[in-house]
Amino acid sequence: MTASAMVAEFDDGAGWTADAVEQLGERHAIPAACRGSANPAALAWLAEACELSPGTRLLDVGAGAGGPAAWAAKRFGVRPVLLEPMPGACRAAARLFGLPVVRATGERIPLRAESVDAAWCLGVLCTVRDKAALLREIHRVLAPGAPLGLLVVVARSPRVFPSPDGNRFPTQRELARLLAGAGFDLTEQIARPDGTPLSWSRRAEQVAAVVATRHRHDRAFALADRQRASFTRLFATGQVSTQLVHAVKRAPGQAPHGGNMSTTTGDDGYEVELEIEIRAELDMAESSRPDEAVPASEWLFDPTDVQREIVELRNLLGAVEELEDRSPGRGAREDA
Ligand SMILES: C[S@@+](CC[C@H](N)C(=O)[O-])C[C@H]1O[C@@H](n2cnc3c(N)ncnc32)[C@H](O)[C@@H]1O
Repeated sequence: MTASAMVAEFDDGAGWTADAVEQLGERHAIPAACRGSANPAALAWLAEACELSPGTRLLDVGAGAGGPAAWAAKRFGVRPVLLEPMPGACRAAARLFGLPVVRATGERIPLRAESVDAAWCLGVLCTVRDKAALLREIHRVLAPGAPLGLLVVVARSPRVFPSPDGNRFPTQRELARLLAGAGFDLTEQIARPDGTPLSWSRRAEQVAAVVATRHRHDRAFALADRQRASFTRLFATGQVSTQLVHAVKRAPGQAPHGGNMSTTTGDDGYEVELEIEIRAELDMAESSRPDEAVPASEWLFDPTDVQREIVELRNLLGAVEELEDRSPGRGAREDA
């Protein structure tokens, strides 16, 4: 991301949010400070998938103004540690929630190896150039077998348009490879659930309205607004979707769950991983709506191609499910 757009969105924006929350009241803090598009249903899914519980030491990498970590502390009793490179966001998180914040990037985490019980990284991966380095660092500081919860904006194809400043969205295949390469087993993945309650979205909107009233003439506000508009268009045209991922740190020396994805057949783990990939691609294809928001003439791909792709993915999914049913490992488990 260019420095100015990055600073506008994540640094200035975080400070303005904290100011507005102070005016409107503390109950606005968590919804307004969830800046990676997490809603209560998404946070609950991640918390349950990662089996968070009172006392869990949760590292939130790219924590922003701290909304998700504060939610996890309030609802699940975790002990969060926030890691965030933007000074304005660090100050906002400390002001709003009084949580411990480390100012650093995810590529160089100043914590000891195996020192945290769980990690979250929400809405961050697409803003980071060296995604592999960030995931390797998270892997290093997690305890063996510990969970990682991700919220990731995933692209249907490597090129998207318009391309928000500095963002590089991984494709589904790339994400699966990055996780495996960093030493994680991808356990489960779903499209981010919708259905944010009005009580939550209204509080976030009220904060955004105060920020707009105070700062609409600032250059940083215009930059951040342009960034938001690019994202809205990418989602409306189905080029990207928000995915939730639960992965687990593989123990040293342990073979990747599912083995070599490009050559293995008839391996139960491989089929499960392939099924996760196909389901995610199917979700993305099905969430592409040519009839909504954008005229067909502005689509980057022919909407009938999307229908064709959905049919092919469904067929592929059916074949993989059948393979899973027939796999000797699966049969043995069911017989037991
Ligand atoms: C979309 S915001 C999400 C913030 C927060 N996770 C949330 O969900 O509210 C992305 C955050 O990633 C941070 N970030 C950018 N580059 C980073 C890096 N290399 N390491 C860690 N965080 C980074 C940004 O400063 C920003 O706060």
